[in-house]
Amino acid sequence: MKQNVLVLGGGGRESALAWKLAQSERIGALYVAPGNAGTQAYAENVNLPLQNFAAIKDFIIEHEVGMLVVGPEQPLVDGIRDYFAADAGFRDLCIVGPGRQGATLEGSKDFAKDFMQRHHIPTAAYRSFTEATLADGKAFLAGLKPPYVLKADGLASGKGVLILNDLKEAEAALEEMLCHAKFGKASAKVVIEEYLSGIEVSVFVLTDGQDYVILPEAKDYKRIGDGDQGPNTGGMGSVSPVPFFTDALREKVERRIVRPTIDGLRRDAIPYTGFIFLGLMVCEGEPYVIEYNVRMGDPETQSVMMRIDNDLVELLEAACTHRLGDVKMQTNPLTAVQVVMAAPGYPDRPQTGAAIRLPDLPAQGDGVIFHAGTKRDMQGTVVSAGGRILSAGALGTDIEAARRKAYAILDRIEMDGKYSRKDIGLDLCK
Ligand code: AMP
Ligand code: GLY
Repeated sequence: MKQNVLVLGGGGRESALAWKLAQSERIGALYVAPGNAGTQAYAENVNLPLQNFAAIKDFIIEHEVGMLVVGPEQPLVDGIRDYFAADAGFRDLCIVGPGRQGATLEGSKDFAKDFMQRHHIPTAAYRSFTEATLADGKAFLAGLKPPYVLKADGLASGKGVLILNDLKEAEAALEEMLCHAKFGKASAKVVIEEYLSGIEVSVFVLTDGQDYVILPEAKDYKRIGDGDQGPNTGGMGSVSPVPFFTDALREKVERRIVRPTIDGLRRDAIPYTGFIFLGLMVCEGEPYVIEYNVRMGDPETQSVMMRIDNDLVELLEAACTHRLGDVKMQTNPLTAVQVVMAAPGYPDRPQTGAAIRLPDLPAQGDGVIFHAGTKRDMQGTVVSAGGRILSAGALGTDIEAARRKAYAILDRIEMDGKYSRKDIGLDLCK
């Protein structure tokens, strides 16, 4: 039976999810809300505010949508799954993404740390503080070695983590966060944790709360400048697979982190259907959880989707119907590289509205462009509409080959002031 699918979101991650869903044998109508100028090529863009669950519900009824894929975390933290679960008419709707309780793994760092401690999942040592315990927090900081890691408990659009070398600065930042709402309500509670020195990797799991599959891992490049210099961004590129993610490391991650996480959810009676994104730090060969996200990563998804050979509609249906135990992941052995093209001024003050000329890529080729911040103006011209505008990616026999192809595509994209890192994947080349 064909499945009508609605994807929520409009960034590069949702472009890649929709692109992969569109290739399914089982796809019926495919909708993306709000989508972007690129998703129009393989899906129908619809204008639905992601916080308006009632409007989403009406759309689902009217268009006989059977599967709802939630791209970003906010609607999950806001309880979109719980909203539909409360209505018996939606019992058969396959929702990819956890309920409010499961989404707290991302929505509250204090909850996530407590969960990891309770279930003996390796993570940095920590303590949490509020305005009432500010003095204890300062004393705790004084007992730590620099650098000091301070995290706003709640969602802060990826900006809520501070890493500071100076104790006085860390104390001042703690006070700003707790007493002067530096990150709004998100910093009413602050997690202070031990600094972990190592190398980061993103691991993705799809689970039905009982069984799970591990998707291809990826590396993200968070800083704006080459050589990991300058401010943090949403992510400037990705590579999959990650050469240092060996079978031995994968086995440790599965045994010490993935299984205890799924078992922990079950023990705590937290139902969970959807993706879990493990942000890991590998320190001298040992993996630690830096953070949980309850969604896929951006721009990791753009590389990960290129390497999944399974039918994505079938994979997600298996998660919704508790059949993931029967699924075998089929992974493309080639390497995917994705390079983000950003607007001038990104990340602080991205300038939008620039016209973009895109090359025609062969439909069956190994190169792809995933739009993110793009839209069509009144004349139908594609223009930039966000900080991260698109990503150009390709598959290759190794990182070098994939890089070459991805950058060749990027070269053919015309836009005044376009910016990309030049070194995506270079650190991983032998
Ligand atoms: P998060 O928002 O939790 O992913 O943190 C943002 C970034 O801060 C991570 O991607 C890491 O690079 C860094 N980070 C977070 N926690 C730690 C830690 N305990 N030790 C070292 N770096 C960290
Ligand atoms: N690439 C990191 C994230 O999506 O949070």
